[in-house]
Amino acid sequence: MSSKYATRLSKMLQNFQHPSSGILCKSLAISGLVLFFFYTTLFNNLYKLSHSDFYQQFKVIWPAVSHGTDSSSSSNMTSPTNISHIVFSVAGTVKGLKYRKAYIEAWWRPNVTRGYLFLDRFPSKEFLPWPSSSPPFRVNEDISRVKAYEKIRKSFQIRVFRTILETFREGDKDVRWYVMADDDTILFVDNLVEVLAKYDHTQSLYIGTNSDCVTSNFYASFNMAFGGAGYALSYPLVEALATKLDTCMEKYQNLYASDLMLFSCLADFGVSLTPEKGFHQIDLHNDISGLLSAHPHTPVISIHHLDFISPIFPSMSRSESINHLMEAAKIDHSRLLQQTICYHQQRNWSFSISWGYSTHIYENILSRNFLMKPLETFRPWWRNAKPPLYMFNTRILNKNPCEAPHVFFFHSMENSTDNQVLTTYIRASPRNLMPCLNNDNVSADFIHKIQVFSQATAHKKTRMTECCDVEDMADRNVTDIKLRVCTKDEIIS
Ligand SMILES: *[C@@H]1O[C@H](CO)[C@@H](O)[C@H](O)[C@H]1NC(C)=O
Ligand SMILES: *[C@@H]1O[C@H](CO)[C@@H](O)[C@H](O)[C@H]1NC(C)=O
Ligand SMILES: *[C@@H]1O[C@H](CO)[C@@H](O)[C@H](O)[C@H]1NC(C)=O
Ligand SMILES: *[C@@H]1O[C@H](CO)[C@@H](O)[C@H](O)[C@H]1NC(C)=O
Ligand SMILES: *[C@@H]1O[C@H](CO)[C@@H](O)[C@H](O)[C@H]1NC(C)=O
Ligand SMILES: *[C@@H]1O[C@H](CO)[C@@H](O)[C@H](O)[C@H]1NC(C)=O
Ligand SMILES: *[C@@H]1O[C@H](CO)[C@@H](O)[C@H](O)[C@H]1NC(C)=O
Repeated sequence: MSSKYATRLSKMLQNFQHPSSGILCKSLAISGLVLFFFYTTLFNNLYKLSHSDFYQQFKVIWPAVSHGTDSSSSSNMTSPTNISHIVFSVAGTVKGLKYRKAYIEAWWRPNVTRGYLFLDRFPSKEFLPWPSSSPPFRVNEDISRVKAYEKIRKSFQIRVFRTILETFREGDKDVRWYVMADDDTILFVDNLVEVLAKYDHTQSLYIGTNSDCVTSNFYASFNMAFGGAGYALSYPLVEALATKLDTCMEKYQNLYASDLMLFSCLADFGVSLTPEKGFHQIDLHNDISGLLSAHPHTPVISIHHLDFISPIFPSMSRSESINHLMEAAKIDHSRLLQQTICYHQQRNWSFSISWGYSTHIYENILSRNFLMKPLETFRPWWRNAKPPLYMFNTRILNKNPCEAPHVFFFHSMENSTDNQVLTTYIRASPRNLMPCLNNDNVSADFIHKIQVFSQATAHKKTRMTECCDVEDMADRNVTDIKLRVCTKDEIIS
């Protein structure tokens, strides 16, 4: 999990990078031996499971189902999944509340979202009376009193792992999904509901994403749902897990993170990850605007590690910038951070819009697949990590005037006429470069505002790219762009 997990990992990494002492070798040999016995025991236990029980877990994941009520298919369809079918469980600490309560409250909807904030101890006076704007809190069970767990060292991680069990024991009714997240994660609930609605909640499903950093995946697993990004477990899976969770805990107590314990435990159940790219672990530092300006074409579900990155809007504090992004999410969650690219042929300029977040102008015609690569404004979690660093391609920042964008950030929104939503983006700072010479030497320096119009009623369809037109490029310092459905067979460039 977040910070502790990171420090441990980074220590581990240092050990691997500087294996100078014989102690390390000795301890590696011992741990190898322990691992050997451990795996032997594990496999023996696995084979003791009856075959039907075991194979029961290897269920086929249903393809995305259309969730109409007029089901003509043979299976009896249940009602569409909605927000009430989800129980959220946030793992936090009393110490972290001061800064992180604002993140939780940014996405939590009182009396709409169901769930709990699990804490390590009873909140201190300054947080009482507990506000209705936060999820109701629970204090995790004290595992230190349990005899079998005397030797547990990773008590923080064990507590977080057991939160799944304790959430299940709350006994909420009509639950289809349990969604676990950290206290420094924001969730985009409407997108989450839409994504989960694609899946059959009656199957054993584990949905989430691995880390954006190669090193994190290397040391944990490329096939693991990272806990900070948040993940969803279907009800039947949690029900089954609840009976075995403490056994798993004993077995995997020395793994360094709760999400790795879960991943290992689920592997024993024969359940593997169903990846969804909208969750974001953000094992990154500094400015993630490059990433948020070139989000994959999938609904954004979460952003994690908010305390480890710069505020996502440069002129605001962390919590202000989260709330600012949420304003856009409230109006149109389907378009949030969705990238639309269009060109102004007369000027040879390219425009890239990340709806509700940023727009870029390039004084050049650049291909879509180039603009879809995030600009590397951030750095990896570990300062000394060696390439390849990220699970996606990036564009290195440079001062080439034909490749460096003019950057504008989301400023405000309003309802315009004709059922349109107007989002406005304001220049962040002067670009301070010469114009791109391919272009009759015309600079975009004079443009200070971009207005993007989108349909208020039409919902952007998942994984469908939209098109756009640059409407007004007269001598004004404001540029208007209209988003629209791409025409049939349109060549987008
Ligand atoms: C679906 O069908 C099964 C078997 O026919 C039945 O047991 C179950 O109650 C049905 N579910 C719903 C929601 O109608
Ligand atoms: C969600 O669906 C259930 C039926 O499965 C329904 O009873 C409930 O009112 C719905 N909740 C919302 C918020 O739409
Ligand atoms: C939630 O519901 C309770 C009772 O149903 C009500 O007292 C409370 O004001 C509501 N809170 C919000 C934030 O709407
Ligand atoms: C735009 O109008 C819709 C419905 O008329 C309303 O729900 C929404 O809050 C309005 N948005 C803004 C930014 O004024
Ligand atoms: C746009 O680019 C084309 C091809 O490189 C060039 O012929 C044309 O002069 C350019 N137009 C402007 C306005 O720079
Ligand atoms: C392009 O414009 C800049 C000022 O904007 C000027 O300094 C430069 O000499 C011009 N270059 C050419 C080739 O016209
Ligand atoms: C943009 O143009 C308008 C009028 O043409 C002017 O009033 C305004 O000051 C200009 N803004 C900037 C930042 O140049």
